[in-house]
Amino acid sequence: MVGAMASENVVNTIAKKRDGGVLNQGEIESFVRGATDGSWADYQLTAMLMAIFLRGLNDTETRALTLAMMHSGRVLKLDSIRAPKVDKHSTGGVGDKISLHLAPMVAACGVVVPMISGRGLGHTGGTLDKLESIPGYKVAMPLDAFRAQLDRIGVGIIGQTADLAPADGKLYALRDVSATVACIPLICASILSKKLAEGTDALVLDVKFGEGAFMPDLASARELARRMVAVSNAAGVATRALLTRMDEPIGRAVGNALELVESIECLQGRGPADTMELTLALGEHMLVLAGRCASPTEARAELLQVVRNGAAWERFLDMVRAQGGSVDHVQYPERLPQAPVVEAFKTQRGGVVTAVRARRIAEIAHGLGAGRNRAGEPINPAVGISHLAKVGERVALGGELCRVHAGTPAAARLAQQQLDTAFVLGPDAVIPVALVVEIIS
Ligand code: URA
Repeated sequence: MVGAMASENVVNTIAKKRDGGVLNQGEIESFVRGATDGSWADYQLTAMLMAIFLRGLNDTETRALTLAMMHSGRVLKLDSIRAPKVDKHSTGGVGDKISLHLAPMVAACGVVVPMISGRGLGHTGGTLDKLESIPGYKVAMPLDAFRAQLDRIGVGIIGQTADLAPADGKLYALRDVSATVACIPLICASILSKKLAEGTDALVLDVKFGEGAFMPDLASARELARRMVAVSNAAGVATRALLTRMDEPIGRAVGNALELVESIECLQGRGPADTMELTLALGEHMLVLAGRCASPTEARAELLQVVRNGAAWERFLDMVRAQGGSVDHVQYPERLPQAPVVEAFKTQRGGVVTAVRARRIAEIAHGLGAGRNRAGEPINPAVGISHLAKVGERVALGGELCRVHAGTPAAARLAQQQLDTAFVLGPDAVIPVALVVEIIS
């Protein structure tokens, strides 16, 4: 009888949202509890996700959903660490290796960075997959050991643990198979439930828009950013969002070990200009929000200083060592996984590069084995695309536009055929555009 009543309540709650009603806190908490204790069946959870997808959530509902998901598991307490704590999250892009070098750079400036990251999602790569190109690097760690590492060296990048926002794990898996991923309030709650549970004081969000991002245009990125900043600030975490363009890949490499090498180059002061620019823009706001620097200009100078004096590099080595990775492989990147077939892709035309289609490049790298189609599938850390020409560069007839790193000659041949659609060349110089378009705080 009790079971039947509970089920009736579940059905009524789903119907309320289906008909465009506003859910109260109790109804949202029942939904989130249902995702973790099994009191809602998968088909009921999925029906509610679709109702939310179609009808939306207002700001109050979004906040209630985020907090309920955050409290569905353990919430890390980092109060015993006296230094300010700050994290950064990107909504996902192509060639986005920023976290790998940004976290140790910020930590080298005296701020603790407790970063809990994800794996590749859809066409975008994942920080954890890139770090796992380092032999031995462990992304799984009990939260207490993570806290001890943060206390000791001020930085760590690990994966989500089973006890951190478990409702998100369940709901994300259902969204993935029910066409309900691309929904602003659900994305907001999913991302923030994990970030708020990691115990950070401040958070900088890199909300990307463009053909290589989940948000196709500036307006939708702005709405996602606005929601996330409002919910996160209200939860007591000082938060700012940068709206950044994601039309061409970040840097010149897409693929796990290839991107790790690019991050190593950034730490050694020789990273690609666009990658460093985005890194500094995000890092500036992290240091200001954490109260470590008074202005973005001061923060930029500190970040450049820790790269120049080697402190950021040393901090990265500390992190690799602490998480069981081979320091030897990052000191000598030629020892990292290497693809057996490396071929140049050359242009038949020549001219100025006017577009490098990020999504196309990501799909080709994915096809080479750099990404996965299903959670848990193995990836090949060595494959991908490197030496990408950048928008605005002039390439001579027959000049190189990129290099393909493939597992087999057949895979390289296929990638070569596909790459033709990834570049657009024209006769005229291109006016450069800023990567960071707007800041929301
Ligand atoms: N990343 C997440 O963690 N969740 C989403 O819903 C989308 C991106």
